[in-house]
Amino acid sequence: MRRNKLRLGVNIDHVATIRNARGIRHPDPVRAAGLAVRAGADGITAHLREDRRHISDEDIAALSDVLTVPLNFEMAATDEMLEIALRHKPHAACLVPEKRQELTTEGGLDVAGQHNRLKHYVDALKRAGIRVSLFIDPSNEQLDAAVDLGAPVTEIHTGAYCELVGEPQQEELERIRKAVQYGHSKGLEMHAGHGLAYETVSPVAAMPELAELNIGHFLIGEAIFHGLEASIAEMRRLMDEARA
Ligand code: PXP
Repeated sequence: MRRNKLRLGVNIDHVATIRNARGIRHPDPVRAAGLAVRAGADGITAHLREDRRHISDEDIAALSDVLTVPLNFEMAATDEMLEIALRHKPHAACLVPEKRQELTTEGGLDVAGQHNRLKHYVDALKRAGIRVSLFIDPSNEQLDAAVDLGAPVTEIHTGAYCELVGEPQQEELERIRKAVQYGHSKGLEMHAGHGLAYETVSPVAAMPELAELNIGHFLIGEAIFHGLEASIAEMRRLMDEARA
């Protein structure tokens, strides 16, 4: 198949995590978003969590005002988040599961098990012209449920692949590859993300059916050592090299 350019969505949540550690205005995630775009990001991703532990309502408002690239708004399927999404009308909304005590989004959304509950959110977002994505584990059952719901995009959770080592990591990579192929064959636009780093990105970026990767925590951490623009540019280079 033709190898389209793989888009990079840079997740800026953890610029806000550092800012919030002091409760002041620095560092500003909106400024980071501008730098990310200069360095090669095709879009900006931000997760407004229910507990507002990193990105704030004001950040989403400011990003909606100033961004020159698509905003991918990550949200739990709740009425509060739906109202915020409908107010700002981001380019895309990615529905993610959320548990208050978790350190990060630990697993994919159970689309198959929550079909009826999710339908209301998917339909309302689509009616507003927002491109809906569902964040799921690499499973055909979840992909079939996403198709049933009418979601145009799914994002495959790469967190387990990034954490594992050796053979189990290769097995998880195969699960991701099969899921990406299956979802693509069903007409879904396929994205992937979570936990990706320089050492793990290439085999994922090489999957020709993928249209977008969303990467955050590693890039913000790496920026401490090499700067944000250089870190993003290196990730972009690895992705392009894997696609070549
Ligand atoms: N994609 C989704 C749906 C996510 O929830 C996250 C984390 O907010 C990411 C991608 C980015 O993950 P990481 O920060 O580990 O790169």
